Amino acid sequence: MTKKLFIKTYGCQMNVYDTVRMGDVMAPLGYSLADSVEGADLVILNTCHIREKAEEKVYSELGRIRQEKEKKAAEGSRMLIADGGCVGQAEGEEIIKRAPFVDIVLGPQSYHQLPEMVTRATREKGGVVELEFPTVQKFDLLPESSAPQGSAAFLSVQEGCDKFCSFCVVPYTRGAEYSRKPEKVIAEARRMVDQGSVEIMLLGQNVNAYHGEGVGGRNWSLADLIDALARIDGLHRIRYMTSHPRDMSDDLIAIHGSEPKLMPYLHLPIQSGSDEILKRMNRKHTVDFYLDIIDRLRKARPDMAFSSDFIVGFPGEGEKDFEGSMQVVEKVGYASAYSFKYSPRPGTPAAVDDKQVPEEVKDERLMRLQELIRNKQTSFNESCIGRVMPVLLDRDGKLEGQLLGKSPYMQSVHVKNAGEYRGQFVDVKITGAYLNSLAGEVVGIQDNINFRKAV
Ligand code: 5AD
Ligand code: SF4
Repeated sequence: MTKKLFIKTYGCQMNVYDTVRMGDVMAPLGYSLADSVEGADLVILNTCHIREKAEEKVYSELGRIRQEKEKKAAEGSRMLIADGGCVGQAEGEEIIKRAPFVDIVLGPQSYHQLPEMVTRATREKGGVVELEFPTVQKFDLLPESSAPQGSAAFLSVQEGCDKFCSFCVVPYTRGAEYSRKPEKVIAEARRMVDQGSVEIMLLGQNVNAYHGEGVGGRNWSLADLIDALARIDGLHRIRYMTSHPRDMSDDLIAIHGSEPKLMPYLHLPIQSGSDEILKRMNRKHTVDFYLDIIDRLRKARPDMAFSSDFIVGFPGEGEKDFEGSMQVVEKVGYASAYSFKYSPRPGTPAAVDDKQVPEEVKDERLMRLQELIRNKQTSFNESCIGRVMPVLLDRDGKLEGQLLGKSPYMQSVHVKNAGEYRGQFVDVKITGAYLNSLAGEVVGIQDNINFRKAV
């Protein structure tokens, strides 16, 4: 008999990937994925702890799920509730104390233990909690087979972080940096391509610190890994995120110039445009160091575009420091960027800094920064008008016959009356630009590419 598993995912792409893997690990036990909590046999919240009020959101969501659990109990069957992800890791036992109807609490390093925990929770009353960082990494213990992810797939190659930026919970919730073995990554990428994926996003909290141990003990850099993956027939686009400026090694910069499958778009967070604040953030780089990397990447690949993360209102940030962030946005001319108000995270050094910035100052700075970012994003999109770009038309648009796909720069591209090209990589001439998308028309087919499987 099949059982219904509902997983709700919050936060980053690593969580999206982990959700797929949790589905894989439960499949042999007869669980198939459901798209709502109603009547589910197992509900997992895959949570995020990176910014404000994450715990509160989780508790209120748990309250709603509790009602479904009670409904199910009234019908004589049981719903198990699991709290996973980084809130699970950070809150631990506290979750069972505050929400005793939760059956399982587990951190991101314990997903391979999920079947055993579910079995225990079914038998036992009371919560089952697993928060250890095992010495054998979860990736090596998860099943090899995986559900198809569609034309663009996520693949985790690295997890955890040793950088300890003073605002960030990741080193505490995800643990120390760990790189998967290159042969495992390559085998997984091959399986993804066999299942129809043509684009792979390599994921890691600090992905460019990748240093996988290859056969014979050789250390592989991320550039080595990209070079090997690019040889897989049928894989046409490679991306990676998230990178730290300090780990943009020479070989990684160089491969942007030499490997056409590596997309000319990089998410490279700077966080602040003030050296003083970068120091307080323990970022271990300066503004000039960052801008120099951008220059070198543009030299290697002139059509390179960038995105970044910014935090405004970090403790000690004055108006001049904030102006520095605005200047970086001007100088780099980002294709897109994310900006956040600083949110004190319990247990991180910056949370106890006595130079906290008032909320209204943060609000005001965030508004100014976001307006500038929107302008830059629109300018970048407008600069694409007239260019011809390869786009995989893999999704239906809202209008009849309209298809959507992603450009090399992750922009959504809409093409009207394109029904016949569904699932194909086509050359699209860009004719219109908006804040969040582009419009264009098909001017050619990349006919050396067979995407039958991607549809
Ligand atoms: N407050 C605000 N933003 C944060 N980020 C990480 N921690 C915090 C925090 N405490 C942002 C950073 C990071 C992105 C994923 O989230 O910009 O790059
Ligand atoms: Fe967090 Fe990224 Fe800094 Fe690591 S490098 S501590 S993940 S912000």
